[in-house]
Amino acid sequence: MVAHFARVVEAAGYGLVVSPVFEDVEVFQRVGDSTDVVRKEMYDFEDKGGRRIALRPEGTASIVRAFVQHRPAVPWKTWYAAPSFRYERPQAGRYRQHHQLGVEAIGTADPDLDVEVVSLGWSFYAALGLQRVGLLLNSLGDEVCRPGYREGLRQYLDGRRGELCDEHKIRLDDNPLRVLDCKSPGCVAVTAGAPRQLDHLCEPCREHFDRVKAGLDAGRIPYSIDSRLVRGLDYYTRTTFEYIGFALASAQNAIGGGGRYDGLVAEMGGPATPAIGLGLGIERTLLACDAEQVLTAADTLPLLDVFLVDFAGGEAARDLSTELRAAGLRVDRAFDHRSPRAQLRAADRSGARLAVIVGPDEATSRSVELKDLRAGQGTGQETVARSEVVDAVRRRLDAGC
Ligand code: HAM
Repeated sequence: MVAHFARVVEAAGYGLVVSPVFEDVEVFQRVGDSTDVVRKEMYDFEDKGGRRIALRPEGTASIVRAFVQHRPAVPWKTWYAAPSFRYERPQAGRYRQHHQLGVEAIGTADPDLDVEVVSLGWSFYAALGLQRVGLLLNSLGDEVCRPGYREGLRQYLDGRRGELCDEHKIRLDDNPLRVLDCKSPGCVAVTAGAPRQLDHLCEPCREHFDRVKAGLDAGRIPYSIDSRLVRGLDYYTRTTFEYIGFALASAQNAIGGGGRYDGLVAEMGGPATPAIGLGLGIERTLLACDAEQVLTAADTLPLLDVFLVDFAGGEAARDLSTELRAAGLRVDRAFDHRSPRAQLRAADRSGARLAVIVGPDEATSRSVELKDLRAGQGTGQETVARSEVVDAVRRRLDAGC
């Protein structure tokens, strides 16, 4: 799954970044003091030196911290596959340690980047073979239009405070947008008629959102507008989105999500820098794959180009694996002087497209035999000079073996 993701995002210029599993708690507090992720779910503790530390609850904060610290050239396009920790009641699709595949693109406000990021998630799910995936889209406005909307929403909800769930009766004033996300029947009923941010966007936010929608339309990526989609973290501005796995039970069917966070870099002490990203839950995506019965062994990426079979002593396997790998090919081999039959079985199981075979005859004549591992018995075999092996393998792989 990580290899599929890497292939999709690296093709768009995103580079792998590995960030620490734990950091100073303040790094993560910036994702929002009024969010469940920070208030209730963070694994924070004091280390032996009395420092307040937290296990990473999500990937964005660490990447932004790294950006502020190291100031790479922009746009800085990164990807990661990262364990994340949230203290919650474990249940199907909700774990205390889960894993996210994510991208963060820092340094441009261009709405075409929003389209790129949303499309990457969409392409990844398509590459896995998932078909029952939906995309929800919203805009949360910016520091110009959101405060007015937020106050209007607060007043509206205040008028019906008695009908809200117990938590939001008390916490409504901290962040009224959170109520839109609440699944309790009282909050859902009250927010059904609440003012929508989409009706209160300022002109630049409206234009931005229109361009994002036009880009998704042009890419034939279907989406539904969901004006309640505020997401569970406070840093979002403008575009927010979520991917829904329709094959999963609705409580945990958000298989991924993301959005713009144009204010977070400045809030972490860097220069004002717009950014956007996404995070996809690996476990939920695997559950969706199970439910849709995709990702069988045959669907996974072939990890190997060549499997070396050497029953002439092992020296050829040793030397050819080095030579072929140095030429950029993906190569594995058998060890322990196993029988020709056992090595050929291992070659078949390996997923490689070609076997390079060296027996005593080939060792003597300085040749190798190439065998297409997907063709039937006796077909697709060819003898080539040992000195030609890299070119011959490349030619066969290019021609589909
Ligand atoms: P998030 O929606 O909190 O966003 O998490 C992303 C995805 O991780 C969710 O859609 C879900 O699939 C998975 N996930 C979250 N919590 C759990 C859990 N306890 N158990 C299993 N899976 C889980 C973020 O974390 C943002 N950092 C995404 C982002 C990146 N926004 C901008 N850039």
